[in-house]
Amino acid sequence: MKSREIHLVKRPGGMPKLSDFEIKEIALPELVDGQILVKNVYLSIDPATRPRLTRGQELNTAMGGFALGRVLKSRAPSLKEGDVVRGIFGYREAYVADARHVAKIDVDPKLPLTVYMHVMGGAGFVAYGGLIEIGKMKSGEQVFVSTAAGSVGSLAVQIARLKGCTVIGSTGNDDKVVWLKSLGLDAVINYKKEPIRDALERATPKGIDVYFDNVGGDHLEAALRRMNTLGRIAVCGMISTYNDQQVGVRNLSAIIYGRVNIRGFVTTDFPQLLPQFNEEMTGWLRDGKIKYQETFFDGIENAPRALIALLNGENTGKMLVRLA
Ligand SMILES: NC(=O)c1ccc[n+]([C@@H]2O[C@H](COP(=O)([O-])OP(=O)(O)OC[C@H]3O[C@@H](n4cnc5c(N)ncnc54)[C@H](OP(=O)(O)O)[C@@H]3O)[C@@H](O)[C@H]2O)c1
Repeated sequence: MKSREIHLVKRPGGMPKLSDFEIKEIALPELVDGQILVKNVYLSIDPATRPRLTRGQELNTAMGGFALGRVLKSRAPSLKEGDVVRGIFGYREAYVADARHVAKIDVDPKLPLTVYMHVMGGAGFVAYGGLIEIGKMKSGEQVFVSTAAGSVGSLAVQIARLKGCTVIGSTGNDDKVVWLKSLGLDAVINYKKEPIRDALERATPKGIDVYFDNVGGDHLEAALRRMNTLGRIAVCGMISTYNDQQVGVRNLSAIIYGRVNIRGFVTTDFPQLLPQFNEEMTGWLRDGKIKYQETFFDGIENAPRALIALLNGENTGKMLVRLA
């Protein structure tokens, strides 16, 4: 069987260009015992891919990334044809892998398959654990979330609301502002229309107890000025730095005066929360209490275009590539 995949052929300087990538057709190997053949259905397009283009992703090999696919053939007892699996073999139409390197998804037939790429996947869990375990968020607190209309951010703002907090979100686009307001946020900032520092000061008359940081740089600096005593900053991402721009944060001393706790985290930091997350999030989703949006590109050949669009803020909610 043949498969097409995306290779990085040139390391980008700043924003990636389409010419940094090439599409290649390869012949997949025959299965040996323990292996499966998977046809990808959805590719997850993630900001964290960008720093790996500078360091980590090998040139002239298939790019890695999360993907959801169906097992076409199996020589592993743990998986059978038709099973849905999530793995890190993204940016390719199909692949052969050791069955131990993918996770089987127990699909709820009442839910669309795509939710396992965001609400019920890494984005939902990182938002949930970041607020509850890292941010120590409590009902009644003031919560600020940046990239609030993105995949992780839009779930973080809704979880914070459902947990009884006052929620402020920031985004760079007026249509996204409208969507966030419809989700019931207490204040929404368009950081491209007004400096984040001024807008955040006005939007947080009671200060900030928890800042869920997806941006770093100027957003982190603006949030530090507004942190309440014993506030927590849960650093999920720093997208403003990913295109090789390092933006200095000039007021780190606010951490001392405010006794602020600042901590970075990744999805694997709070496995003990997974059963609680699955139960609570499934319930919210079924009850219509969690809303989501998805932005699609079609075809493996458009995966680089989708990545560049994500970095340019062209997605609302989760950015996905849909494969035929
Ligand atoms: N720690 C972890 O395990 C983990 C896991 C997943 C994601 N993350 C992080 O979480 C963050 C969000 O990821 P996501 O997958 O949900 O992506 P996303 O928010 O759906 O998409 C990225 C968004 O970032 C915004 N953006 C781009 N450049 C920006 C800049 N210079 N300043 C401010 N905003 C900018 C754009 O929205 P606007 O139109 O609003 O500007 C864009 O739509 C990223 O920092 C990512 O690295 C961390």
